[in-house]
Amino acid sequence: MRALLALLLAASAQAGPGDVGRGRALVADRTQSLCLLCHSLTAAGDANQGNLAPPLAGVAARLTVQGLRERIADMRRFNPATVMPPFRSTEGLRDVAPTWAGRPALTEQQLDDLVAYLAALPP
Ligand code: HEC
Repeated sequence: MRALLALLLAASAQAGPGDVGRGRALVADRTQSLCLLCHSLTAAGDANQGNLAPPLAGVAARLTVQGLRERIADMRRFNPATVMPPFRSTEGLRDVAPTWAGRPALTEQQLDDLVAYLAALPP
């Protein structure tokens, strides 16, 4: 029984279903995700948020969870000329700082967290 519990705890510590709270914090963190540099969270927009990309409000009504993941991971699959950073890819990038070489901007867990948050965002 104890071994099973340890196994379950170990499994839940690995990348798994996203966490809405962590996703919310990550979107708001301008040093890590940069989402709000380009996107706003509400359809009406916000003077402190970006307006060069579609608002993220209600995005889950337009895209499936898989569709959200794929776009955050690498928007170039859908628009080769996109300005959105490929958060889960290291291919085809220029001027990458040495500390980031070969490392995607976000982890798989962070991607799960973002998707969980965006999927729960009201329109
Ligand atoms: C440098 C600007 C920029 C940043 C930073 C950025 N995006 Fe984007 N994003 C865009 C643009 C522009 C589009 C519109 C599609 C395209 O590239 O033509 C887009 C599209 C999207 C879409 C699809 C929206 C739709 O309605 O189809 C999602 C979801 C998304 N971004 C999520 C994110 C998340 C989450 C982050 C942060 C982790 C982020 N973006 C950071 C510019 C950006």
